[in-house]
Amino acid sequence: MSTNSATIRIYVPKDACAIACGADEVVAAIEAAALKRRQPIEIVRTGSRGMLWLEPLVEVATTEGRIGYGPVEAEDVEALFEAGFLTGAAHGLRIGKPEEHPFMAKQTRLTFARCGIIDPASYADYRAHGGYRGLERALQLGPVEIIEEVKKSGLRGRGGAGFPTAIKWKTVADAKADRKYIVCNADEGDSGTFADRMIMEGDPFELIEGMTIAGIAVGATKGFVYTRSEYPHAIAAMQKAIEVARAHGMLGVNIAGSQYSFDMEVRMGAGAYVCGEETALLDSLEGKRGTVRAKPPLPAHKGLFQKPTVINNVLSLTAVPHILADGGEFYANFGMGRSRGTMPIQIAGNVKFGGLFETAFGITLGELVNDIGGGTASGKPVKAAQVGGPLGAYVPTWQFDLPFDYEAFAAKDALIGHGGIVVFDENADMAKMARFAMEFCSVESCGKCTPCRIGSTRGVELMDRIIAGQRVEANLATLTDLCQTMKLGSLCALGGFTPYPVLSALNHFPEEFGAPPRRLEAAE
Ligand SMILES: Cc1cc2nc3c(=O)[nH]c(=O)nc-3n(C[C@H](O)[C@H](O)[C@H](O)COP(=O)(O)O)c2cc1C
Ligand code: SF4
Repeated sequence: MSTNSATIRIYVPKDACAIACGADEVVAAIEAAALKRRQPIEIVRTGSRGMLWLEPLVEVATTEGRIGYGPVEAEDVEALFEAGFLTGAAHGLRIGKPEEHPFMAKQTRLTFARCGIIDPASYADYRAHGGYRGLERALQLGPVEIIEEVKKSGLRGRGGAGFPTAIKWKTVADAKADRKYIVCNADEGDSGTFADRMIMEGDPFELIEGMTIAGIAVGATKGFVYTRSEYPHAIAAMQKAIEVARAHGMLGVNIAGSQYSFDMEVRMGAGAYVCGEETALLDSLEGKRGTVRAKPPLPAHKGLFQKPTVINNVLSLTAVPHILADGGEFYANFGMGRSRGTMPIQIAGNVKFGGLFETAFGITLGELVNDIGGGTASGKPVKAAQVGGPLGAYVPTWQFDLPFDYEAFAAKDALIGHGGIVVFDENADMAKMARFAMEFCSVESCGKCTPCRIGSTRGVELMDRIIAGQRVEANLATLTDLCQTMKLGSLCALGGFTPYPVLSALNHFPEEFGAPPRRLEAAE
């Protein structure tokens, strides 16, 4: 191709998924190919768009807009240059404008609107794409009206429990204390989830802005992001953005020249699943072993260092800047029933098109797995999807008309959780999956209460006997009884919800446990 003296801008994700797929090597190859041709280029490292099967997705700024190519390997780069990809020319890997790709065009992106587009370390880029509009409005409104706006939005916690965010904030705002805290739960332990990581890597200022607004609303001047050691790229991106925000007066004393002060830092846990539970997280943040605290007192009254504390998931906090910028009613216009706004859904497991799909509540599980996810990667029929992480039910295909809605899922003993979907094909052995759920609980149990600590170990033993065909009916009856004890007697949802994947596998696929058919819903 002909060379060009004008500098051409090329975007390559620096997201952990893209790096794992060779993005750094692709950058090196692009730099070498451009140098050889004396073509001036500027490479901007972005977050991911969320079409993970296309990573590394390389985009070139052309006169028609950004044109994407993916998945690009380092060995493809010479051929891309030869084909003229710097001007958006045709090539087997060309996908056109990423935002027009069917996977993107079907989404309603609020939280992830900037992810994959901006340079996550650039304050100017964040501002140019609408960043800090929410904080500016929050500063005009003041604490009471901020909480009113969040209430109007109908926002519910995206970490799993779906608790109304405004009620939590109001409780902390009303508490009298010399110090209050905002803690962001970025532990993201659920299987098949990656939205928290993606947003921290792709748009970290959004989380900073959300936490700052929360701080103003409740009267907290200090925030912590608690995440896991497996997230080094997210930690680096957050730390960099915090530094930049501070340098621009958007963190620290008198933020944006206002009367409010707020600062924050990132803390790293060792990756225990139970440390995602809010009270175990607080213990871990205080430097102790992460064990679950009995409630009451609620963290909103006595949380971090016994002070009133807001604990919210990354996705709850990153929804807040949009709610403030465009109004609670605008946000509440999306969704169904009591599930308002959008949910960044993560499609993973044995699926053809895995990735991040942000959409209004109400979309069905079948649309997500079959239409958007394209069915299984193996090409075999879908058997079930586990939704909501390791404590979520296995939803069989005959329940795939289930809409993404907290209440609709609960009515089927299922869980939306953090919005993770893990797809399984017909080869999945559901008895083994049930055993795995029990084993996971026994390994991750904090040990504080007996139904979970002892029950999960007995549950694994029972599953082993059932799988071996020993006294199946009697052992299944004991397993069902044990599940009931764990549900009712556990101190937290780790022990209390483990029965859901176990019993959903048993109820929907009884023949795989050597049990007589009892699939009542199949006839529905
Ligand atoms: C075993 C267990 C693990 C959890 N892991 C997470 C997690 O990784 N991230 C998260 O935000 N919430 C997690 N939660 C839920 C939190 O306890 C809490 O409800 C949440 O952080 C509150 O924030 P939200 O209201 O914004 O959802 C977990 C709960 C349990 C019982
Ligand atoms: S249910 Fe399990 S994880 Fe939760 S408090 Fe009890 S022992 Fe700890």
